[in-house]
Amino acid sequence: MSTAIRVTDLARTFPVRGGLFSQPRMLRAVENASFALPSGGTFGLVGESGSGKSTLAKIVLGADQPTRGEVRFGDRVFGKETRDSDRRWRQRAVQAVLQDPFGSLDPQMNIGDIVLEPLRIQRRGFARDALEKRLDELLAQVGLPAEFKRRRPGELSGGQRQRVAIARALVLEPEILVLDEPVSALDVSIQAQVLNLLKDLQDALGLSYLLISHDLAVVAFMSSHIGVLYLGRFMEQGTREDIVQRAGHPYTHALIAACEPDALDVQAIGGEIPSPLAPPAGCVFHTRCPCARDVCREDAPPVHRLSATHHVTCHFPLTSKA
Ligand SMILES: Nc1ncnc2c1ncn2[C@@H]1O[C@H](COP(=O)(O)OP(=O)(O)OP(=O)(O)O)[C@@H](O)[C@H]1O
Ligand code: SF4
Ligand SMILES: [Mg+2]
Repeated sequence: MSTAIRVTDLARTFPVRGGLFSQPRMLRAVENASFALPSGGTFGLVGESGSGKSTLAKIVLGADQPTRGEVRFGDRVFGKETRDSDRRWRQRAVQAVLQDPFGSLDPQMNIGDIVLEPLRIQRRGFARDALEKRLDELLAQVGLPAEFKRRRPGELSGGQRQRVAIARALVLEPEILVLDEPVSALDVSIQAQVLNLLKDLQDALGLSYLLISHDLAVVAFMSSHIGVLYLGRFMEQGTREDIVQRAGHPYTHALIAACEPDALDVQAIGGEIPSPLAPPAGCVFHTRCPCARDVCREDAPPVHRLSATHHVTCHFPLTSKA
């Protein structure tokens, strides 16, 4: 599989002020993140709240700049484009579907105008009938009846609103979609329908997805490749099989255990996430890790390359014969 987007050594630090006169402290939201989004595939980013998923998503979307590192597509480095045509390419080719379909759709606009709005923003002139035709085609692609174009977001269910958000993301014929928690606001029964729609669209249109979710089950269902984030660092990365069948990191094991039907959600992982303003020394996961030993409290763990695709950042990666 060729690579659509390559992220290299990316870091994003936010200065955070405690009080009016205190020195700002540095919050390391993302540290040294590197991964490749395969062309036509899905890279799934999974991690608990505050692990840096949306920070990474915003940088890939061009809505934020990294403190260090780069995001590139072939020879185009995002945010450093020298040619206008490259900048315009990115604004068209990389689109987003975000978590809250209600918050992101203007309640005063009708669905037709919402879906076509990116064309207006990009000042693409089209004849009225060509626009109508494109709108009908997009609504059909996302499984909504054509008459929905005259409705407003408030008249639609959560799942239908998310289909509208997907249609709007597709109107500029993108190559890459950043999906930040695209189903977490939806009922579980509706989640599967929207995920299946996203899979069908990926096959039909050859799209590459950067999928973000706190739910490993969602990420495992959708992704060809998975990265597990904790406090802004990759704990483990690999193909779906590397992560689901041969997980090497204690944190990934805990996330998998949390997905078991009888698990009490994330309580399978004990303890609280430490403050990102004061991450633990050594391995940042040591305060919650059942396998932690003395060295974990002092030294940052190395990256073990268990195979060409499978990387684990841990002093004592768990290896299985599976
Ligand atoms: N603009 C900002 N200024 C200061 N801190 C920020 C800013 N944006 C994010 N952060 C911090 O960076 C860390 C990562 O946040 P981020 O939103 O990327 O996490 P997330 O994994 O998307 O979490 P969630 O699952 O809750 O959406 C958090 O500690 C957050 O408070
Ligand atoms: S380095 Fe140590 S504390 Fe960190 S995950 Fe591995 S065993 Fe646990
Ligand atoms: Mg987020």
